[in-house]
Amino acid sequence: MTSSNFPSCRPTRVSIIGSGNVGGALAQRIAEKDLADVVLLDVLPGRPQGIALDLMQSSGIERHNRKITGASDYADTHGSNVVVITAGLPRRPGMSRDDLLRTNAEIVSHAAKQAIAHSPEALIIVVTNPLDPMTYLAWKASGLPPERVMGMAGILDSARFQTFIAMEMGISPADVRAMVLGSHGDLMVPLPGYSTVNGVPITELLSAEAIARIVERTRNGGAEIVELLKTGGAYYAPASSTYLMVETILLNQPRLLPVAAYLQGQYGLQDLYIGVPVKLGCGGVEEIFELNLTPEEKTALHQSAAAVRASLDTVLAI
Ligand code: 2OP
Repeated sequence: MTSSNFPSCRPTRVSIIGSGNVGGALAQRIAEKDLADVVLLDVLPGRPQGIALDLMQSSGIERHNRKITGASDYADTHGSNVVVITAGLPRRPGMSRDDLLRTNAEIVSHAAKQAIAHSPEALIIVVTNPLDPMTYLAWKASGLPPERVMGMAGILDSARFQTFIAMEMGISPADVRAMVLGSHGDLMVPLPGYSTVNGVPITELLSAEAIARIVERTRNGGAEIVELLKTGGAYYAPASSTYLMVETILLNQPRLLPVAAYLQGQYGLQDLYIGVPVKLGCGGVEEIFELNLTPEEKTALHQSAAAVRASLDTVLAI
């Protein structure tokens, strides 16, 4: 009997749909942190295979035994524990994430349907923009319970907020905890009242002007990089943020994290995916936490949700 017949011998597997910059950086992090085997799939013939082989060729130096394979056929993603969907067009300078709506809607729905057919037990993490509507479409196409489909955005936006707070204060980002809710877009809702430096609220450490400036830079965090790069968007921080979700799920280390989750009345919102604090674990979104928001924050969250709803209605009407 070959060892692969024993369930305990079967390695955990993450399939990444889309071998662009985010997909490639994520594959590298998953393999080099020795978390799981990786299947990188793309419609571009040769690209996933080339990236996978390149990463494999560094495995001796990077000292891991993970298998990284490139695929063009969804059958090669079979038995995945987690499927990450990064496939889709990236933004170019001057484009909003919503400008990608129609093109990426078809790509994401197809990817979710195909991937889950070969990995019926998998959890799905969506990264493709516009994130919140794309996560909803992936959920619909997958037929999975909503807790097993989630979007990566709040961790990225909160990481930017964390970084800008640390830069403003000249301290280590490790001491900063930041929270951003709402859509992954211009109407995201950074929460200064729930952002701290070693437990001290930033409202006691920074002026209102500094906080406003940092909140604005966080909202534009993605666009700032698109404008600098000219040929696409950020990918190292998105890959790190997605890796954190994959690790939390696969190691079953439940954590409270901002994740695009399906709301069924929480925060007064129904039937849409948007960034909220959740308990993330091996079952996916295991719990959704409702924070006490100020009236202004509640209004901002609902404005953010209205924009997501409008995008969703547009793409569902196609
Ligand atoms: C970002 O905010 C790519 O949406 C991603 O950079």
